[in-house]
Amino acid sequence: MCGIVGYVGRQKAAAIMLEGLKRLEYRGYDSAGLAVLQGDGITLVKSIGRVAALAKLASSRKLSGTCGISHTRWATHGGVTDANAHPHVSSDGQIALVHNGVIENYVHMKRFLLEKGYTFKSETDTEVLANLIAYHYAKQPAVNGEGSRFLEAVRKTLLHVEGTYGIAVLSPAHPGEMVAARKGSPLILGVGEHEHLIASDVSALVSRTQNVVYLKDGELVHITPAGFTLSTLDLADVSPVIDQVTWSVDEAELGEHPHFMRKEIFEQPLALENAMRGRFSADGSSANFGGLNLTPADFRTIDRFVFTSCGTGWHACLVAEHLIERFARIPVEVDYASEFRYRNAPLDRDALFFVISQSGETIDTLAALREAKRKGYKCMAICNVVGSTIAREADGGIYQHAGPEIGVASTKAFTSQLLISAMFALYVARMRDMSFADGVEYIAGLKAVPDLARRVLEQAPHIQNIALRYAKYNDFLFLGRLSLFPIALEGALKLKEISYIHAEGYPAAEMKHGPIALISDQCPSVFLVPKGELFNKVLSSMQEIKARKGLIIAIVPENLELPEGLADEVITIPDCHEAALPILATIPVQLLSYYIAVARGCDVDKPRNLAKSVTVE
Ligand code: G6P
Repeated sequence: MCGIVGYVGRQKAAAIMLEGLKRLEYRGYDSAGLAVLQGDGITLVKSIGRVAALAKLASSRKLSGTCGISHTRWATHGGVTDANAHPHVSSDGQIALVHNGVIENYVHMKRFLLEKGYTFKSETDTEVLANLIAYHYAKQPAVNGEGSRFLEAVRKTLLHVEGTYGIAVLSPAHPGEMVAARKGSPLILGVGEHEHLIASDVSALVSRTQNVVYLKDGELVHITPAGFTLSTLDLADVSPVIDQVTWSVDEAELGEHPHFMRKEIFEQPLALENAMRGRFSADGSSANFGGLNLTPADFRTIDRFVFTSCGTGWHACLVAEHLIERFARIPVEVDYASEFRYRNAPLDRDALFFVISQSGETIDTLAALREAKRKGYKCMAICNVVGSTIAREADGGIYQHAGPEIGVASTKAFTSQLLISAMFALYVARMRDMSFADGVEYIAGLKAVPDLARRVLEQAPHIQNIALRYAKYNDFLFLGRLSLFPIALEGALKLKEISYIHAEGYPAAEMKHGPIALISDQCPSVFLVPKGELFNKVLSSMQEIKARKGLIIAIVPENLELPEGLADEVITIPDCHEAALPILATIPVQLLSYYIAVARGCDVDKPRNLAKSVTVE
């Protein structure tokens, strides 16, 4: 939800910010803008559309300033117009600001500012912040030098703000200075040589520095080319902790791939290897998780797990539920984070919470984590982004190590979450009734997954051909059972997200309680066929579809044979351990959605209306 990049240094800010903004486009791509300090004032360039449109506009302007702020927007308050694009400048021209988040009490503050004579050009909540900082700046006497006056005006404003924000602020009265602050929206300071950057995500910083400070909620930072000072809203000094980013800028590049989604689908074998690395016990029968901060004795007292997440991560929770209940026989409850935070659910005394979040910044998931912690529960996080808010606020957790995921539709992060869930199921199962021999076999099954995933990926040309034949349909059903039901949901979500095709995921046997009414030769069904006792049941569901002229794409374990003519298209997946099946079954539905979206000419990496990291409610 909106990306911010700011620069203070010796180089021209605009080019550096535009490069950073391109990397943050996954956070929003309705409109973009930048402001640099030059001469005695603020030079502002804004444009609806993508960062490329802004870059084009910026190239026609002389932008030599070495201090600037910039933004790529995902609209919340106010439509997609040039006027609503950030940065926003106070009506007295003294303050320029970019903002990620939502100011909840902006109506009240706007009324106050209008009475004081400030004017507004946009419909945004953000412009209220710019004017309120200008108001406090005008009122503020110079204390301990001019820099403090600027910082103090921002601080005073934020004391009145309800809602969420990551902001970066400039003032022409303070060339070479920037103030940034966060509450509820991510903000990271990049510490370079004679330069500092501020951004919503490390991917916008890594080309200039790998030294970063993750700002915490309620912190402000005053930045100059030479240094920075961290403090809190209540004026306490904060000693900064400088972290090193472990990945390089190349990992966030497209390379030979036309889209990040394709790149990330093909990176899955590596991401799966990274999720497992160093995480099996020395005796080869269980998993190890150094970051959980819980002993086996702690786990023995837990009688229920509660998993919450949003979007694709929620589907990973459903797979975790299946695997933990199946192998460890411990009850698991799954809730949408957005529901859990308001549901006031009655909870068991000895429940352990898990949240799953690729970005570690999804606001509903963060709120669910805080609600669970407020109630006194320990809360673990499965996160991909190191140092993210959820990762830092959880009591313990498991990092995915999947590398940066840029495509808005999650792919490698999802299968990595499935593998971690499978390893966690093993970990707790081995504390209960799973035998040593079964643990060893389970691990062999998981270790085989990266190579088996490579084999599924070899079918990409076959899946592409199917996609070309089916791209014309406007309705799809995805059907699966048990651990493949969440994959049916995920398949439907992927198709919806990136190709705007109506798709629904259902447990295969539920199909006859409603969705069967949709079936015709215009609504294909994608079946995720299980092995074992439910194989024949799923065949019956397929027959029911065929009897109504429905088209069938079947994803089938390779050693199973479907009756002749039952499926119109068959995609096979290699035989594997039961715990690995959801992972391997996911890859064909990812590829199918990807190729269908490409065939329909959709913008795969930046689907309309979506953003990768949803940091507003
Ligand atoms: C957005 C993205 C989804 C993602 C969800 C949760 O809706 O488009 O791909 O699954 O947020 O994101 P998280 O970063 O918390 O996993």
